Amino acid sequence: MTPSPIPKTAPFAEEEIELLNRVIGNATQRVWLAGFFAGLEASTAPPPAPAPSATAEPLTIVYATESGNSEKLAADLGRLARKNGLKPTVVDMADLDVAALISARRLVVIAATWGEGDPPGRAARGYNELMGEGAPRLDGIEFGVLALGDTAYAEFCATGKKIDERLAVLGGKRVIERVDCDLDFATDAANWIEHAVKVLAPADPARGKVIAVDFSTKLGSVTEVGPVEAEITEHINLNSSRSAKETIHLELAFDGAAPAYKPGDSLDIYPNNDPAYVEALLKSAGLAADEALGAEFATSRDISTLSVRTLETYATLTGNQHVKQLIESEAAKTWIAGRQLIDLIDQFPTALSAEQLRALTRPLAPRAYSIASSRRDVGQEAHLLISAVRYKSHGRLRKGVASIDVAERLKKGDRLQVKLRPNKHFALPAPDRDIIMIGPGTGIAPFRAFVQERRASAASGRSWLFFGDRSFTHDFLYQLEWQEALADKALTRMDVAFSRDKREKVYVQHRLWERRRDVISWLDDGAYLYVCGDAKSMAKDVRMALVRAYSDVKALAPEAAERAVAELERDKRYMQDVY
Ligand SMILES: Cc1cc2nc3c(=O)[nH]c(=O)nc-3n(C[C@H](O)[C@H](O)[C@H](O)COP(=O)(O)OP(=O)(O)OC[C@H]3O[C@@H](n4cnc5c(N)ncnc54)[C@H](O)[C@@H]3O)c2cc1C
Ligand SMILES: Cc1cc2nc3c(=O)[nH]c(=O)nc-3n(C[C@H](O)[C@H](O)[C@H](O)COP(=O)(O)O)c2cc1C
Repeated sequence: MTPSPIPKTAPFAEEEIELLNRVIGNATQRVWLAGFFAGLEASTAPPPAPAPSATAEPLTIVYATESGNSEKLAADLGRLARKNGLKPTVVDMADLDVAALISARRLVVIAATWGEGDPPGRAARGYNELMGEGAPRLDGIEFGVLALGDTAYAEFCATGKKIDERLAVLGGKRVIERVDCDLDFATDAANWIEHAVKVLAPADPARGKVIAVDFSTKLGSVTEVGPVEAEITEHINLNSSRSAKETIHLELAFDGAAPAYKPGDSLDIYPNNDPAYVEALLKSAGLAADEALGAEFATSRDISTLSVRTLETYATLTGNQHVKQLIESEAAKTWIAGRQLIDLIDQFPTALSAEQLRALTRPLAPRAYSIASSRRDVGQEAHLLISAVRYKSHGRLRKGVASIDVAERLKKGDRLQVKLRPNKHFALPAPDRDIIMIGPGTGIAPFRAFVQERRASAASGRSWLFFGDRSFTHDFLYQLEWQEALADKALTRMDVAFSRDKREKVYVQHRLWERRRDVISWLDDGAYLYVCGDAKSMAKDVRMALVRAYSDVKALAPEAAERAVAELERDKRYMQDVY
């Protein structure tokens, strides 16, 4: 006799067990029913519950950014980390409470370098606190740093390097080696992020190993839009013919709608290299004039930047002893200053193959330009203001790639590739708030957009503009427009500083100091202050002038005045877009 398939211990009443034993007759029927119920269960059961948050391991991700690359990568890392059993908290270094890092168990920092080896402006306070004596011990905290930079700068990735060192000095345990990314950072950064998540993701207790990770998932924002084509509909030099400068006002039209930009955003321009430079470089490299090669180097390779990395590649490719000595003697950094790739090949000549020349160069990067218009005023257009870069060094006249492409080669009617570069950290406040705008030179560009926008939206807040350049007569960019804006009250007030009109040089920071009582009064009333333009000196001088203004007007000690400005920065009422 075959045993009854349903035992007496089953969760049924006695008569139900009897009934089931009668109904479930042979083995085939039992197997079929078992499969049927298993399938039914699987298809109707709710998806497995996400890992209870109690088991998700915390991960602190700090980013230090100016133009948003590090911020975007931090968000990518956050998304991937969450999918893999981590509980990420993403923090802008601008808002970082350094003392709170003590409770972090795992820490990842993604940091860009700006200025000349400096942290991004917004991140400076958090960075200085981390570097300062008051920073907490971070014993045992697992960390990794991803550094963003540009090999064209002498202090390549300096901020990321210093943070990486500092975290180790504070007792942190480096579990992910730092990677220093150049401008073409996408692949290196994605690989680093994937590796970081693999290292940091918690082990799966069920299987005793790292939980399954779909590392093939493409990183990056789904909303990312590629470059679009624009037509130049206006191309005007705003400086007089007697000016030493050339600043092009460029108007762009689009086949359809303009990219959805807001005042404060920038457009990336995809430039072409100077054909004369391409020809000279190919000749120096001993490469016969080849149309296809010329076109490739003109449109897609950065053939002017010379970095220590280029020197190292050149030494490896050619075995050139002089270049090797230059690197070993540590004179390389000084030697490359003011020089370009063509100088290297001319000074240490070697015939190169096209492949070798390619290896010496990196992809040609787009250049950012602040948008100088508001869509509410100009419709489906975008206006830019581009200063032509020309200078002489080591006996050669040098020309900036993108600015000279625009100034000398591109004409009205030509087409070019552009891409929107949003900047949510340089946006207008509510229309009833006051704004103070400080923008000498091309720094004026976003403020033209601000004033257009405020006029179009009949904003009730007051607007005050500080502008400066060399000469009133020759370099007063958009002079008539500012006069109109003052007349129709889109602009409440304007102060100008022309540095070469008088013996004594006057810059915007001097005007700010002269007007300090009113400036502080506007800020006390809740005004937002914006600075755009030169990062090397202007932005620093303006900040210093404001600290001194607080100290003078409110009779504060220098430290208290510094705190007042830092508080404005923290409240996002002191914003910079500097380059
Ligand atoms: C967010 C943002 C917004 C910007 N907005 C504007 C804008 O509105 N208008 C504008 O004109 N620019 C703007 N810029 C700057 C712009 O992106 C370019 O950097 C600039 O136009 C130079 O690009 P280029 O291709 O012509 O020169 P490049 O070919 O990139 O050459 C510039 C390089 O040449 C070298 N160099 C320049 N001058 C000298 C010198 N005197 N001596 C020695 N070396 C020198 C430096 O290494 C410099 O980095 C902005 C930049 C950023 C990041
Ligand atoms: C005005 C300016 C100054 C820069 N200075 C440096 C530098 O000193 N060292 C460096 O490695 N990179 C430097 N960079 C390159 C940036 O670090 C790089 O573009 C990075 O991707 C920016 O990241 P972010 O968008 O997160 O700010 C500089 C870029 C600009 C536009």
